[in-house]
Amino acid sequence: MRIHGHTLCLFNSIILLVLSSPLFLSADSNIPPPPPPFSCDQSNPSTNLLPFCNIKLPISRRVNDLVSRLTLDEKVEQLVNTAAAIPRLNISAYEWWSEALHGVSRHGRGISFNGTVVTSATMFPQIILTAASFDSNLWYRIAQAIGDEARAVYNAGQAKGMTFWAPNINILRDPRWGRGQETAGEDPLMAGKYAVAYVRGIQGDSLEGGLLKDGHLKASACCKHYTAHDLDNWNGVTRYVFDARVRKQDLVDTFQPPFEACVKQGQASAIMCAYNRVNGVPSCADYNLLTKIARQQWGFQGYIASDCDAVAIIYEQQGYAKEPEDAIADVLKAGMDVNCGSYLKKHTKSAVAKNKVSEKLDIDRALHNLFSIRMRLGLFSGDPTKLEYGNINPTKVICAQKNLDLALEAARAGIVLLKNDNGLLPFSKTKTKSLALIGPNANTSNIFLGNYEGPPCKNITILQALEKYNAGSIKYHQGCDFVNCTSATIDEAVDIAKQADYVVLVMGLDQTIEREKHDRVELGLPGNQEDLITSVADAAKRPVVLVLLCGGPVDVSFAKENSKIGTIVWAGYPGEAGGIAVAETLFGDHNPGGRLPVTWYPKDFNKIAMTDMRMRSDPSTGYPGRTYRFYDGPTVFEFGYGLSYTKYSYDFVSVSHSTIFLNAFKNAVKDLGSVRYVSVSELGAKYCDGMKFSANVRVENVGEMDGKHPVLLFYRNENVRNTGKPKKQLVGFESVSLSAGKSEEIEFVVKPCEHLSYANEDGLMVIEEGTFYLVMGDNEYPINLVF
Ligand SMILES: *[C@@H]1O[C@H](CO)[C@@H](O)[C@H](O)[C@H]1NC(C)=O
Ligand SMILES: *[C@@H]1O[C@H](CO)[C@@H](O)[C@H](O)[C@H]1NC(C)=O
Ligand SMILES: *[C@@H]1O[C@H](CO)[C@@H](O)[C@H](O)[C@H]1NC(C)=O
Ligand SMILES: *[C@@H]1O[C@H](CO)[C@@H](O)[C@H](O)[C@H]1NC(C)=O
Ligand SMILES: *[C@@H]1O[C@H](CO)[C@@H](O)[C@H](O)[C@H]1NC(C)=O
Repeated sequence: MRIHGHTLCLFNSIILLVLSSPLFLSADSNIPPPPPPFSCDQSNPSTNLLPFCNIKLPISRRVNDLVSRLTLDEKVEQLVNTAAAIPRLNISAYEWWSEALHGVSRHGRGISFNGTVVTSATMFPQIILTAASFDSNLWYRIAQAIGDEARAVYNAGQAKGMTFWAPNINILRDPRWGRGQETAGEDPLMAGKYAVAYVRGIQGDSLEGGLLKDGHLKASACCKHYTAHDLDNWNGVTRYVFDARVRKQDLVDTFQPPFEACVKQGQASAIMCAYNRVNGVPSCADYNLLTKIARQQWGFQGYIASDCDAVAIIYEQQGYAKEPEDAIADVLKAGMDVNCGSYLKKHTKSAVAKNKVSEKLDIDRALHNLFSIRMRLGLFSGDPTKLEYGNINPTKVICAQKNLDLALEAARAGIVLLKNDNGLLPFSKTKTKSLALIGPNANTSNIFLGNYEGPPCKNITILQALEKYNAGSIKYHQGCDFVNCTSATIDEAVDIAKQADYVVLVMGLDQTIEREKHDRVELGLPGNQEDLITSVADAAKRPVVLVLLCGGPVDVSFAKENSKIGTIVWAGYPGEAGGIAVAETLFGDHNPGGRLPVTWYPKDFNKIAMTDMRMRSDPSTGYPGRTYRFYDGPTVFEFGYGLSYTKYSYDFVSVSHSTIFLNAFKNAVKDLGSVRYVSVSELGAKYCDGMKFSANVRVENVGEMDGKHPVLLFYRNENVRNTGKPKKQLVGFESVSLSAGKSEEIEFVVKPCEHLSYANEDGLMVIEEGTFYLVMGDNEYPINLVF
């Protein structure tokens, strides 16, 4: 069998090489890669004249032709992630499920790293750290590199599909969420911008959008998990049975905006519906969410996939459907197109027989969406290695130095300096004679990858990266057996700390503590970590440095308040180059500039039920609300917090309008007791566009060191009554690199309908009259909205 297989591969590859110029051959392998799977072989006389193979026709006509040729049995086999081949039509098998959250991943079913050409891929930082850079351009370049590597894996014959189920754009609503690490944090505007940058990058669009010719895709991105999905397993409640009770107000101005941006601006080619129910209805069975909102209101053009086994659970765990065929009918009629799992393969035919599903209306619609994507990916146009993306060469592109440099740039850009008393950092390269490095995360590189990882091109731990500095002798001690730190060897760690000039503790969490299917049960550091850190700090000659590796926020108030802990650095899960970025940060070869994309709550927040979806606070019951926009309790560190080795000053240079008129149409004005408001939809797009104004700000590096700095512009509401107005909200962000002493002017375009509005209790976006303040650091600028 094996020999036969090899012979076949060799034969096919020779044909390829003769027909086209050699694109790539692995230098270190004698066995050329097998060709990637594709349909419509132009040399196959039995199909090359069929309309669905005619690339001159529009895709919708080709798909209609294709679908019209399929039998019901053939159709049903296409409705699951592992779609069967249809040999009589020269249609190849296809695997819909691949992952690429922060690099081409080994998770999913479509990508294999055990072939002859590709054995690894560049692992960029986990998203929560990448988000901390507040740099859309960087996000875009990372996604572009991932898209190139993805195509390269395909060209190497090691991918059975080019549809990737990333990005995860859910709002990090609760700090305990095991998958918070996968997201861009808690702000809807930011999650939306992240989504757009990622989708455009991986799909082959430009950063500004609008580049894709005829909808062609380099790789397909998928916005997940639609919607209000941010609980995995808390206190016995699993994502499979959780019914998220979401108020219209929160749905409209918190949970939905990233998806709307992903679809409308990003032109994402896929959406994944979530496991959970939203107000009683399973997301994948919700016609309103999938068809009315996504397709009709937002103009979504792509396919909708279920999360894995999300259809089966509608019957089996949620009991929402009375029999399996009802679950099939519910999802197909709602607008879902492909089932990750096998449920549709098992039960769709009987659903048709029982007249619960229409072959023409429901199944053909789904197939139309699915085959359109495969055609847009160029997989029905003959050998794809001879097409647009065919020359992306795996041996040149995957793990290219350029991509490794980008992974390092991203790790640097995200690292957040949370405390740095008396300029403890950076360490001097010449005066640091001895260093004690302590902690379970200091001598491992796996931790850097977070989840949805693939095999990295390189491994380098913080210990190894520091050794390259050769700045003095390094003594390492693990401190705890594992990250859970149920057993700690505090005395040994203290001994080492006592003898060193400086001490660095590398602590935090890992995937055993926070992961998919596992939310955290507490907000502090696990086990004896606090004890270890405090004992070491007490014994050390000087204040110590605490480096935290974790995705979700931890309550480190004990360290913030302890003067013997001089510095706290948050490095997320920084990707394969993270060890280098941390070492550079310690020794001042990198000046940290990241800012927190999520609120760090005190441990006490743990008394709030994770199942309580309310964003807004409720002072009458002591419910504090969630995220910087609504939370009214104390914080450990605020959203947007982050220090630097230098200092920046801000100025509002000019604001083009400080009074904005809302009285477009008298009858649109609603009276809400003492305050009048107008709905954004009644103002209309044209009037809204006329209201936009620019705020020019100057940022200056007034310190001693060059740095990269994200400038965050917020607006603050004056009177936050019980209407549910956010206290504060991000209006825009822009990252600038500034040498010491230099300044730069940035223009923010403020669109009142988008940036100064919020959802009222009916789920209507409204703008109120009154005074708003633009806020940048300690500077404020008043804006009057008047009728
Ligand atoms: C398509 O046809 C070609 C030529 O006949 C054949 O080599 C190839 O295996 C077929 N592919 C599929 C997916 O059926
Ligand atoms: C490579 O991995 C895939 C699954 O990812 C498996 O089906 C295949 O047998 C493996 N091939 C080899 C040569 O180990
Ligand atoms: C760091 O970890 C590696 C791999 O587990 C191990 O071989 C090495 O001895 C460790 N280094 C120290 C100083 O303990
Ligand atoms: C990185 O480390 C993992 C195990 O921790 C190992 O499986 C992998 O082969 C290593 N990769 C490289 C490129 O050394
Ligand atoms: C701590 O972590 C280790 C390694 O993951 C695990 O084997 C052990 O069971 C954990 N201990 C507890 C008490 O959870």
